[in-house]
Amino acid sequence: MYADVLVVGTGIAGLSYAVRLAKKSPDAKIIMISKRDLLESNTKYAQGGIAVVSNFFNDSYEEHVRDTMVASAYTSKEHVVDFVVREGPACVKELIEWGAQFDTKGAALHLGKEGGHSTKRIVHHKDQSGLHIQNALITKARSLDNITFFENHSLVDLITDHHIPHLNKGRCYGAYVISKKDEEIVKITAQLTVLSTGGAGQVYAHTTNPTAATGDGLGAAYRAKVHVENLHFVQFHPTALFPKIDGNTFLISEAIRGAGAILRNHTGEAFMEQYDNRRDLAPRDIVSRAIHTEMKKHSLEHVYLDATQIEKEKLEQEFPTILSNCLKLGIDIAKAYIPVLPAAHYICGGIDVNEHSQSNLTGLYAIGECSHTGLHGANRLASNSLLEALVFAARAAEHSSVTLSNPLLSSDFFEEIPDWKGTENVSNQKTDRIRKLRAALQQIMSLYVGIIKSGESLQKAETELHEIYMATKELYQLNKLTPQLTTLRNLVSVAYLMIKQAQKYPVNKGVYFNEDYV
Ligand code: SIN
Repeated sequence: MYADVLVVGTGIAGLSYAVRLAKKSPDAKIIMISKRDLLESNTKYAQGGIAVVSNFFNDSYEEHVRDTMVASAYTSKEHVVDFVVREGPACVKELIEWGAQFDTKGAALHLGKEGGHSTKRIVHHKDQSGLHIQNALITKARSLDNITFFENHSLVDLITDHHIPHLNKGRCYGAYVISKKDEEIVKITAQLTVLSTGGAGQVYAHTTNPTAATGDGLGAAYRAKVHVENLHFVQFHPTALFPKIDGNTFLISEAIRGAGAILRNHTGEAFMEQYDNRRDLAPRDIVSRAIHTEMKKHSLEHVYLDATQIEKEKLEQEFPTILSNCLKLGIDIAKAYIPVLPAAHYICGGIDVNEHSQSNLTGLYAIGECSHTGLHGANRLASNSLLEALVFAARAAEHSSVTLSNPLLSSDFFEEIPDWKGTENVSNQKTDRIRKLRAALQQIMSLYVGIIKSGESLQKAETELHEIYMATKELYQLNKLTPQLTTLRNLVSVAYLMIKQAQKYPVNKGVYFNEDYV
């Protein structure tokens, strides 16, 4: 298959990129790959919304920039923060023109508040912002003739000079992907390749991310020698519901703390006062560490979130999904405390990109959570992720459109690219073994590379991960490639980078906390 542009991943970043490019360059053939169905992405699970300046009476670009810098412990790149904050409102306006609807208050947008924000600034659709945005973008993208979708296809590897050394152009030529249904490996060549593969929360046992969030873009980029930075900045969301529902961790949006909910320990004490004068609305790294400390101090499995002081009508109006999911566990949040604990939520680092979202490999862009733009630094400010995805997708689309209007690689050239060379060996897939290795990797990461790390814990993680790496390598060499195996390979790559980068980081900043440094 050939595309002018191959987009891997169909969350807010990939879809908004494709929609903008399809409109701007109507002759460009765009192929989009999604690992599951089109709807399933990290975006779908984003509850809070988009942090964006919209009320200029109570807010300003300067304040949003300052809040972002403070949350990141001044490690974000200020010029990036500045242009993202300023370009955000136009991107949200465009999203609304494409069909997204946000809650309103009179003629204005209704704004929520989350940790680290000095004012109400979160544009949202009840507590289902991501799901709603995702549906609107899918409808819009489907209406455009030059976008073709392939659902249930996972990324195997990027196509680079490694696959065709004699060409030696030092660029990306597309990707090999594997279909879930018949496990066939398809070669998709492309002038431009865009990774929008989202997060990698699945390297942990306890995560707010869906099962497909396995860092496939990060793994493939790393193997292609693309620069991947700051993976040691893993953000833990303070409040995931305890226990899991049907094996999945459900997020309790920070917006509910913005509406007045308070964290309490087992004795009912509102403990955040002891940790930060912003209390429950301190930046996420501080709140997660405080909960972790409380749990450790009192040997607790979880703490509580008390939303009982919020009017029932407001809960029903603004947090219907949280209300109904808690009810599944028999908890009426208008009357009872919600058991919560931190869970791996967001990777602040990723594939290093410039201000057009270009990576260091020519022809390869990265957008959304899998990228590292410099916006988040050592700790992402709540609801800045969808904002970043929109702004960088728009910038990447503009840049791609210009690139596509210049002379391109010829079609003869793409014909030289070989099909995937898999092993000739048995197709004994060893699914059970793959599942066990994945679970073991998640346990290692949760035990040793969690909210609080140490030199010793990171060393243990490295040693134990090595065993999993060797076992995965053997499976890879001896068996036919399957989606499960390719996913495990990516998880191993991401976990390895997280550990190695954590070992090198010399100070405690943002979400990175090493007890040896105290
Ligand atoms: C939330 O709703 O608490 C999550 C928002 C985010 O991760 O930015």
